Amino acid sequence: MAITDIDEQKLEAFLGLAATEAGAALNAALVTLGDELGLYKAMADGQPVCPADLAARTGTQERYVREWLNAQAASGFVLYDEPADAYVLPPEHALVLADDTGPFSMTGTFQAANAAVAVRERLASRFTEGHGLGWHEQHHDLWHGTERGFAASYRAHLVAEWLPALGGVVEKLEAGALVADVGCGHGASAILMAQAFPRSRFVGVDYHAGSIEIARRRAAEAGVADRVSFQVAGAADYAGEGYDLVAFFDAFHDLGDPLAAARRAAAALAPGGTCMLVEPYAGDRVEDNLNPIGRLYYGFSTLVCTPGSLSQPGRAALGTQAGEARLREVLEAAGFGAVRRAAESPLNLVLEARLP
Ligand SMILES: C[S@@+](CC[C@H](N)C(=O)[O-])C[C@H]1O[C@@H](n2cnc3c(N)ncnc32)[C@H](O)[C@@H]1O
Repeated sequence: MAITDIDEQKLEAFLGLAATEAGAALNAALVTLGDELGLYKAMADGQPVCPADLAARTGTQERYVREWLNAQAASGFVLYDEPADAYVLPPEHALVLADDTGPFSMTGTFQAANAAVAVRERLASRFTEGHGLGWHEQHHDLWHGTERGFAASYRAHLVAEWLPALGGVVEKLEAGALVADVGCGHGASAILMAQAFPRSRFVGVDYHAGSIEIARRRAAEAGVADRVSFQVAGAADYAGEGYDLVAFFDAFHDLGDPLAAARRAAAALAPGGTCMLVEPYAGDRVEDNLNPIGRLYYGFSTLVCTPGSLSQPGRAALGTQAGEARLREVLEAAGFGAVRRAAESPLNLVLEARLP
């Protein structure tokens, strides 16, 4: 391309974007450091703090903390109070960065993002040879970050909005239902449901033994181990019949063979039972997803979910942004007659599927 074909304004704008993006990549690690070291939590009172005081509060070194604070201020994550030479974490930012149990927490998402980018070297050969990379082969920060990141959204929406959006399910849960949570990871969704519906029983299923070990511990810590059990099993071969609800939380697109999993769900349901897919929010067309949420999900999809599915028999690789139409196709092929979008949130689509 001749240099005269170059639009200088476009070049400058894109250089600005590229610099911002390189900064964002570095900020992912800085956010997780702040999370791990308790730096955000120590600023959660919203009061100006100087680096020496923040270092003293957190048992860290002032010189490192000053540099971290400057990076945070340049990213707009904290504010710099120049006359006082102090830094402030605004209360709105504290909800996202310093409140791990709240509905707006995103520190888990950053933790997962750091784990995801760490597989880059291993993934290059997968791009050329086509092999997959299983969930169980990923860095442990992915498992923990995913748990923390998704749990924030489940706390906000699952019991208050998603379950009530399914026909007749809450009534069954209140009376005492049997529920399977397939691809349950560390069990956050099963535990939340068990806390809300003490008369029901919940079975979490995941092929990753390490995740199930942690899920069992989490259920015991939450005091619901009497009604939540877990199985190390694949999505198409777990035990049990007569489930009133079979749910997949952000896991269906990760499966090598989602059709086999949907068929298993259909066979495992009690008459009149419901299958619920909670999936990452996505439109059906690529152009619908070219936005910040789609970007986050396409990133995780390339580094984690697509390689995960390609590592398993079936290799369906639906991708994190499969979209409702593609998901509906799989459910219908498994025999589900009535599939509808029951709910949505900024991060999730919720599909309800019932047998004819
Ligand atoms: C993105 S994580 C979601 C975990 C959990 N549902 C949550 O929301 O935190 C996907 C999960 O699907 C599990 N998984 C992947 N393939 C599976 C399979 N074939 N059978 C059962 N679980 C599977 C992974 O081990 C992982 O725990």
